[in-house]
Amino acid sequence: MSVTAVVGAQWGDEGKGRIVDLLASEADVVVRFQGGNNAGHTVVNEKGKFALHLIPSGIFNPQAQCIIGTGVVVDPVALWQEMQELSSAGVSMERLVISERAQVVMPYHRLLDALEERRRGGRKVGTTLKGIGPAYADKAARAGLQMGDLLDEDYLWSRLEPLVAWKNRLLTQVFEEEPLSAEEIFEELRQVARSLAPYIQDTLPLLEEALARGRRILLEGQLGALRDLDWGTYPYVTSSNPTAGGACSGAGLPPAVITQVLGVAKAYTTAVGEGPFPTELRDEMGNFLREEGGEYGATTGRPRRCGWFDAVAVRHAARLNGFTGLALTKLDILDHLDTIRIGVAYRYGDQLLDRIPMTRLMERVEPVYEELEGWRTSTVDVRTYEDLPAAAQAYVSRLEELVRVPIKLISVGPERHQIVFTGALARLLVG
Ligand code: IMP
Repeated sequence: MSVTAVVGAQWGDEGKGRIVDLLASEADVVVRFQGGNNAGHTVVNEKGKFALHLIPSGIFNPQAQCIIGTGVVVDPVALWQEMQELSSAGVSMERLVISERAQVVMPYHRLLDALEERRRGGRKVGTTLKGIGPAYADKAARAGLQMGDLLDEDYLWSRLEPLVAWKNRLLTQVFEEEPLSAEEIFEELRQVARSLAPYIQDTLPLLEEALARGRRILLEGQLGALRDLDWGTYPYVTSSNPTAGGACSGAGLPPAVITQVLGVAKAYTTAVGEGPFPTELRDEMGNFLREEGGEYGATTGRPRRCGWFDAVAVRHAARLNGFTGLALTKLDILDHLDTIRIGVAYRYGDQLLDRIPMTRLMERVEPVYEELEGWRTSTVDVRTYEDLPAAAQAYVSRLEELVRVPIKLISVGPERHQIVFTGALARLLVG
């Protein structure tokens, strides 16, 4: 048996999708454990290029069962659209399962996401406007609906009507917007529920059986540790825990069964949305990384903020998650640089910080850099660690030292085969 959690070690968009896609070729079960269609995992394979939002990246392995876990918030209409798009590209939906306990993202959640952002004004979070925060807020306030509720129309209506009446008071009296029609929302949910019904079930027995049979299970996170609700740059965070701890509750697995936690970090740093990002480059180098790395949000198309690798941030993620290994993505984007910097600490006044401070301080820190020689050679065809240029090896091993986690694989291009393994793939899954 192996249970591997794959989680983001930075601000999200580290390339988890392609790593999960790769590992999923060896997995029996893949579970998305948190987030919603704010995610945008780009996967390139022989079937084409896909931006997955809710569906686990394991969907391309015809043997793997793919579970949308209980910790996920599901916009049912968006999910159904995504399923249809994949189906029309020839990807089978037969092995997709949606947890009956996953929360439903309602139309008023999307609306309130935008209205809340407007209310925050200059202090906005820069959310994806997919209704994620309001849906999780309602879940915690016990005012949410679960996917399985969609299957019982009487129950659905009995819950929905008072909820919409309450949200309408908020919409009209606080935000001075038009009210929503409970009947229209009910009708939309009723329609989509018919399409999704065959996929909605209790996912616990599936996972129990997979554990009992010694199956290989992959837990797929969204976003990264710096956007964790508890340990990220609060309030510039998402509304769930994209860390390994969140994987247990979100998937419904006891913590002790997790055998590996693979962190995914880009060879530099990117972020979409607001909040402190000490190694951000607002100059030509930042533009270079954005263009060379194609750094535009997969969900919103927003240009990503780009900067040097921040070892303080990734070390923070390593502490929180207990990474057993790290996957370093997009090393090739740095191929032609003369020198490369790594953020190794933060300066706050006359103090040197080697840990992520509270956001109010993090907004005022300056990064402390170490500068390394570039390798000025293409790595896109390199497949073994030994074949990496010496300066690239030096960069990778310095990152390992700073983050204190072994780097187990390195991606050097978007295609499935453009990976440098520093150990066997099987070892990643089996331990
Ligand atoms: P929300 O998750 O839409 O509420 O957005 C909260 C923060 O997380 C914002 O800064 C978003 O830009 C960021 N975010 C949400 N989803 C993603 C993602 O898939 N990749 C990168 N950033 C994301």
